[in-house]
Amino acid sequence: MKQFISVYDVPNINALVEKALAYKANPFADRQLGADKRIGLLFLNPSLRTRLSTQVAARNLGMEAIVFNVDKEGWALEFEEGAIMSGNTVEHIKDAAPILGQYFDILCIRTFPSLKNREEDYSEMFIHQFIKYAGVPVVSLESATLHPLQSLTDIITIQEHYRTQHTKRKPKIVLTWAPHVKPLPQCVANSFSQWINAWGEADFVITHPQDYELAEQFTKGAAITHDQDAALKDADYVYVKNWSTYNDYGKIYENDPAWMLTEEKLKASNNAKVMHCLPVRRNVELSDEILDSAHSLVTQQAGNRVWAAQTVLAELLQSGK
Ligand code: CP
Repeated sequence: MKQFISVYDVPNINALVEKALAYKANPFADRQLGADKRIGLLFLNPSLRTRLSTQVAARNLGMEAIVFNVDKEGWALEFEEGAIMSGNTVEHIKDAAPILGQYFDILCIRTFPSLKNREEDYSEMFIHQFIKYAGVPVVSLESATLHPLQSLTDIITIQEHYRTQHTKRKPKIVLTWAPHVKPLPQCVANSFSQWINAWGEADFVITHPQDYELAEQFTKGAAITHDQDAALKDADYVYVKNWSTYNDYGKIYENDPAWMLTEEKLKASNNAKVMHCLPVRRNVELSDEILDSAHSLVTQQAGNRVWAAQTVLAELLQSGK
């Protein structure tokens, strides 16, 4: 593996899952792998889990991790080729990224979408400019359209739980839209769809209100319905997430609390486990009664972020040897 931006960087999802679960059982198995190596974690946006789990993962591999909150502490970066920098941006990525590439062996970057210009966001210009100019492996800590470390974690968590069920039947996995007060990126939903489709070991259903279609490039292969109750029937895993509109980009059309998952709705499921990437707005996006119940996998899921990150860093270190 040379970079970790999307599922297309991964030759074998199940091999990564097994490696992650092996690290969970034995966190320091490769404590020398990253000795004398340095990882830079660049945040253009806030984070709790991604930042800390990647730091812990790096430490488990013997790496030094340095966090740089670019949005608060760095110069305002320009990403546009040929830009006349007479506005607010101070340093071009062409100048900054090669320097970061000299300081670090691996660069990890979080850069959210603007939700104003779909073409620009979906071109993934920011992360591609880092890749172009850094000269070292780049890991997405969530980009404009995808969140691959989260999605790897999600499959690890599903596999970890499903093997305790001792069944050979494919799990039914439902991604359901949920209400929210702010327009959120489509990244987590896009990425989850991309990974579950590529994994191919589940019956995958996406349910959302009308006009909340995600980009087909990510959802192709999934069954899509506006009927949440029908989608939840016999579900083994329900992944809850809000996203703003894709077609009329970055809008909130719908905020009906009827879309929030409840115990009552889950009665039609196969005693489903409920997942969410966090942070979650309680009693808006997901009810207390679900989050505080035995249905919820969210804490286990967030804990598994460490093993996903550790696996990806180890793969990059091993590829570079
Ligand atoms: N799920 C996730 O990426 O969490 P953070 O935004 O806290 O990193």
